[in-house]
Amino acid sequence: MLKRDFLKNGVLAVVGALVSPAVLAAAHEERLLREARATPIADGPFTLPPLPYAFNALEPHIDAKTMEIHHDAHHKTYVSKLNEAVSGKPEEKLSLAQLLASASKQPDAIRNNAGGHWNHSFFWQLLAQRGGGPPTGELAAAITKDFGSFDKFKEEFTKAATGRFGSGWAWLIHDPKAGKLAITSTPNQDNPLMDLPGVQRGTPIIGLDVWEHAYYLKYQNKRPDYVAAFWNVVNWSEAGKRYEAAKKG
Ligand SMILES: [Fe+2]
Repeated sequence: MLKRDFLKNGVLAVVGALVSPAVLAAAHEERLLREARATPIADGPFTLPPLPYAFNALEPHIDAKTMEIHHDAHHKTYVSKLNEAVSGKPEEKLSLAQLLASASKQPDAIRNNAGGHWNHSFFWQLLAQRGGGPPTGELAAAITKDFGSFDKFKEEFTKAATGRFGSGWAWLIHDPKAGKLAITSTPNQDNPLMDLPGVQRGTPIIGLDVWEHAYYLKYQNKRPDYVAAFWNVVNWSEAGKRYEAAKKG
C-alpha cells in the first residue's frame, strides 16, 4: 500500500469511528431517498398509493423524515420490484390479494414485494394524526371479550412486536375459523393473508411494521419505545370498520 493511501485509510477509519451509527443510518436513508426519487416505478399493474396525510402528521410519535423515507423510498421500491417480478409472467394478471393467497407457490421476489406493497398500503391507513386509543364500538367489545381488557390486549400485542426477531410485523387479526380476534406476528414481509406454513391466517385489523427502517432514525435500536409510541397514532376508527367487515365475512 502506498504511504498516502495508508494515511488516507487511517484518516477514514478515525472519522468512521467518530461518526455515530445514527448519523451513518441517517446518511444511508437519505441516499436511499435520493435514489428512489431519481428512479421511476417500473411499468406494471401495481402503483404506489399516496400517503393519506402529510409526512409530519404523526409527529412527535413517528417523525416526518422516517415517514418520507418509508413511503417514498421503501414502499415505492416494493411496488417497483413487484412490477419487475411479475413482468411477462402469468402473475401479471393476478390481483395483489391473489398473489398473497398463493404466496407459497410464488418465487421470493413476488412473495416479498407483494407482501411489502400490501403491508405498507395497509399500515398507512391504520395510522392517523388524531389516532390513539381506546377503540370503540364492536371492536372494543371484541377486544375485551377475547383478551380480557384493552390493557391486556396492548400488553400481548407489544410482546408480539418487541419479540419478533429481526424484521417483520405484529398483527391483530380476525380469525374467521375461530370467530375471534388473535395476535400474531410474521417475519420479513409475510402477512396473515398468505398461505404459508406457520402463518396464522386471518383478516388484519391493525398491523405494526417492526423493521428498523420504520423507527431507527428517531428511536435507534429502542424498538420498545417505538411500539409504545405507536399506541398514540393507531387509527381505531379504520380498524373498527375493518373488524365489522371481517366479521360479516
Ligand atoms: Fe416498512
